[in-house]
Amino acid sequence: MKIVVLNGSPKGDLSVTMQYVAYLKKKFPEHTFETVNVAHEIKKIGKDSVYFAAILDRVRSADLVLWAFPLYVLLVPCQYKRFIELVFERGAQGAFAGKYAAALSTSIHYADMIAHNYIHAVSDDLGMKYLGAYSAEMDDLLDKGERERLETFASLTFAAVEKKIPVQRETAPLVPPSLAYVPGKGQASVQSGANKIVILTDDDGSSKNLTAMVARITTAFSGKAEVINLHNIDIKGPCLGCCRCAYDNTCVYTDGYVDFYRNRLATADILVFAGAVHDRYLSSTWKLFFDRSFFKGHTPGLGGKQIGFAIAGPLHQIPCLKEALVMWADSGRCNALFVTDEAATSGELDALLDTMAGKLVQGAEAGYTPPHLFYAVGGHKIFRDNIYGGMRFVFQADYRYYHEHKMFDFPQADLKTRLMNAVMMLLTKSKAVREKVYGDTKHHMIAPFAPVLKDG
Ligand SMILES: Cc1cc2nc3c(=O)[nH]c(=O)nc-3n(C[C@H](O)[C@H](O)[C@H](O)COP(=O)(O)O)c2cc1C
Repeated sequence: MKIVVLNGSPKGDLSVTMQYVAYLKKKFPEHTFETVNVAHEIKKIGKDSVYFAAILDRVRSADLVLWAFPLYVLLVPCQYKRFIELVFERGAQGAFAGKYAAALSTSIHYADMIAHNYIHAVSDDLGMKYLGAYSAEMDDLLDKGERERLETFASLTFAAVEKKIPVQRETAPLVPPSLAYVPGKGQASVQSGANKIVILTDDDGSSKNLTAMVARITTAFSGKAEVINLHNIDIKGPCLGCCRCAYDNTCVYTDGYVDFYRNRLATADILVFAGAVHDRYLSSTWKLFFDRSFFKGHTPGLGGKQIGFAIAGPLHQIPCLKEALVMWADSGRCNALFVTDEAATSGELDALLDTMAGKLVQGAEAGYTPPHLFYAVGGHKIFRDNIYGGMRFVFQADYRYYHEHKMFDFPQADLKTRLMNAVMMLLTKSKAVREKVYGDTKHHMIAPFAPVLKDG
């Protein structure tokens, strides 16, 4: 069987993910593996149509296409995203249609499911037969049990291809919103007070609705709302995954990104992120923005802000995109609001955008951010443990930040709770105490709230 591996790591062959592929090659010598470094070579692929066509030929010749990629900021790296865009933009879906597909990612398991859902949906859109994903933790290959698990996944996947099993499409084809949005003349005047408002967009004129939404939201505020177009920022290139920034948050690039992020975005009270749907995410330009923010490591970059997402496109049909944006906002403890052009009339969309503008200002005035969801709570524990543990000497900037902000909040350090547990576990060895404790758990659980609820 011929397996064509589409390598999503910007590091090319020197990639952690590719070590997993190398292991599969070693274990399955009866199969041929051909790797294309699509993320590493994305510039060439974009410019050289002959090279792009050669990649498509390799895909056409495959029995199985393996999407192999690292997780980058809740998805695949922007270079990989760009490759997927090129396939659709150049009408090259035919090379992929009918092929079996599987995914193999490496990560620290932070949002791996979002990236897999994205690749699954893209595979469906390409007419591929998606057989499933394998999410390896970066170091899994060092563990015998995990190596066996990977081999089992691979054998099951290869067997499915050999048997030519039928596969059901799981995601419905996207139906773009039908509204041709023309903003109304009446201008809403949301009193923006002293709040600094920035509208960040990747608008390149290809989505008329996006241009119109940016125009409407800009005029919704009584005060100045600065519009920044990502295409006008001096960004020399995408994140290379070199982790140079991990030592002291200094990016290896000396372009305008860090200055723009620190001095124009991080200083705002209200941010509106405006973009259009491209395949099952926003554009690769937006992804470039998110990936480059990794210079901040695992520390909050835009924490505490009011974020309005103004999206042109069928966001409500793309759970992986919504989840990626919600998770990003949740992890940064931002208050996120969403408006899309999935509205019946232009008047309705005017009202939705104006209302979002009003709510963003209200949120900023009240200093409101919602409590964390599972994403941030779970994510904190993943980062905390890794930064304290195996990632510490590389991610020294994160370590210092976590230390200074008391984010190494391990339960072992909570002496009061440890003492209480020790005493109670001893006492509950007695049947009488046990009956008292377990006989009335409802009251025991609410008893600590009594002082808070007392009058006066
Ligand atoms: C810019 C950047 C963003 C990352 N984002 C995530 C993430 O969102 N979730 C995660 O679990 N790991 C994340 N990682 C960790 C990588 O997924 C992990 O190191 C991976 O094994 C790298 O594979 P590669 O060497 O094949 O590129 C990120 C790493 C980098 C450099």
